Amino acid sequence: IRMETMTPNIVLVGFMGAGKTSVGKAIEQLKGYRFVDLDQVIVQICGRSIPEIFSLRGEEAFRQLESAALRSLQGVRRTVLSTGGGIVGRAENWETMHRFGPVVYLEADWAVLQERIGQGEGRPLASAEGGWEKVMALWEKRLPLYLQADLRVDCSQGSPEQVAL
Ligand code: S3P
Repeated sequence: IRMETMTPNIVLVGFMGAGKTSVGKAIEQLKGYRFVDLDQVIVQICGRSIPEIFSLRGEEAFRQLESAALRSLQGVRRTVLSTGGGIVGRAENWETMHRFGPVVYLEADWAVLQERIGQGEGRPLASAEGGWEKVMALWEKRLPLYLQADLRVDCSQGSPEQVAL
């Protein structure tokens, strides 16, 4: 990801399995940005895992926590922020993300995403019991939303480091 002028922050969006966390960590290593994973921020605020939040409080509550956690990062600098795959569903999240800095969409082919999601461990919306049709429908529904990003980077091939460079 080439950022000719050093931008204050970089925001990574994309579906589950696109590699947001791996690419974010590579950008931290190679470009000196601080890496923050929004799901981890939510876990820290709540003191519960993502699957626990979904099962105890439901998806709507999770989305509210997610938007609040995103807003709480206001003012961060030289940070690469990895977001959850569903961040793109709310217009207010786009406003917040665009204020941080350029939003980069990490895209990958469906087959690649499917392989990386695997059994969907730790991902309540992609657990194996739910079946792939549901996950694929979610992906298709979100595809046009990801296009609100400022940049698109294909992550189907290559290592996280290659994508980061
Ligand atoms: C979600 C993706 C997850 C996590 C939560 C919901 C989604 O993040 O935020 O399970 O709606 O796609 P990753 O994209 O990092 O797996």
